[in-house]
Amino acid sequence: MSFFEIHESAPLSGQIRVHGSKNAVLPMMAAAILHRGITVLTNVPRILDVFWMIEILKTLGCQVCLEEDVLTIDTREMTNFVIPRHLAEKMRSSIICLGPLLGCFHRASLWHPGGCSIGSRPIDLHSEILTAMGALIVEEGEHLEVTAEKLSGCEFYFRFPSVGATENAIMCAVCAEGKTILKNVAREPEIRDLCRMLVAMGAKIDGIGTSHLIIEGGQSLHDTTIRIPSDRIVAATYLFATALCGGQIILLDAPIYDLKAVIAVLKQCGCQVQYRKGRLKLICSQRPYAIPYTKTEAYPGFPTDLQSLLMAVLCRADGISIIEETIFESRFQTALELQKMGADINIKGNQATIRGTAFLHGADVTATDLRGGAALVIAGIYAQGTTRVQAVEHIFRGYERLEEDLSALGADIVLRQ
Ligand code: EPZ
Repeated sequence: MSFFEIHESAPLSGQIRVHGSKNAVLPMMAAAILHRGITVLTNVPRILDVFWMIEILKTLGCQVCLEEDVLTIDTREMTNFVIPRHLAEKMRSSIICLGPLLGCFHRASLWHPGGCSIGSRPIDLHSEILTAMGALIVEEGEHLEVTAEKLSGCEFYFRFPSVGATENAIMCAVCAEGKTILKNVAREPEIRDLCRMLVAMGAKIDGIGTSHLIIEGGQSLHDTTIRIPSDRIVAATYLFATALCGGQIILLDAPIYDLKAVIAVLKQCGCQVQYRKGRLKLICSQRPYAIPYTKTEAYPGFPTDLQSLLMAVLCRADGISIIEETIFESRFQTALELQKMGADINIKGNQATIRGTAFLHGADVTATDLRGGAALVIAGIYAQGTTRVQAVEHIFRGYERLEEDLSALGADIVLRQ
């Protein structure tokens, strides 16, 4: 099994370009199913989850071609609405093919999705909204058989602003008859990006970027070409690496307007942030300050995907910090791995109390999920000695070139087979 071997190599310096967003490109790939024609996506990240979504689209009968960062999806020969179990279980995003398949075939046959083991991750909100539009969902164990005589617009309030359920709702509503009013939807930037793509294809969606969407279904859709926005979580990963290790970096193509909560936390750590003409500069010239309390929240709050990365930074902070995880019920596994590196972290329920220490030491640690793996990597860059991060396949799901980018910033990191 391959692993990252990392040697102490702080501080960081240099500049890198942020690649396209995993959590934007996956629903946008699924949205191509809604239209019989050709969809072209550019700035597509070459990451495992994209490769698995390509396999799903090919299984449905689509012609799919990825050349460098340009992905062309031709759905004219698409005939199949069945997603096999081994693909459905590869990632969470297989479930967001459900809405488009219903919109296109009024049928879908798939399985409960896979993805990071950060909680139970049910799909009840997906089922509720699609049922409200006329779907009949028959679950047998992990298998889902879904049919819809007719898809009709409805008015629906999300009791929790689920990102995936919002994406499924929007894509199904685009094909439903009549108007759909969705309230308390997720407001993550990836929802905005999906809506912009659907509008570019000919859909009618009002309220984009707000928690209240109005979708006029039944519009005819057409070919489109659209650029995938930069990955805000990947951008923040490099920012937190610098906050932990010290130094000065420049990010090109950083989605600055989607990073407000992240930049606020970086400033609380004592970092300086400058932004001009698409270049985001971060300067961290001292040990990070402790942050008394941070809570993960749905957008525009502090993102749960950055919880373990912030924890890694606060392991070095000068004082006591508390992080409360409110989105996923078991997303603190990485704390156990950071403790192997000398971190002083106490977990009680959904709160982590971190007593910063001036030093961390290298250790053999294991990634348990995508973002937790990235947190262990940045901790290894700061720690004294050598750190080996196992199970790096988690990291390859969402980072196109983590070790190359960090090496370009001066980190001593290599991938060992
Ligand atoms: C998306 O997952 C992201 N994944 C996750 O990023 C991200 O952590 C999450 O949104 C929250 O921002 C992709 O976009 C591919 P949710 P998703 O539905 O859609 C509960 C990463 O590292 N819930 O908003 O699965 C659920 O259990 C990944 O890139 C239900 O109870 O997130 C969780 O507690 C990790 N019933 C909360 O809502 C449902 O039907 C948030 O889930 C659906 C969700």
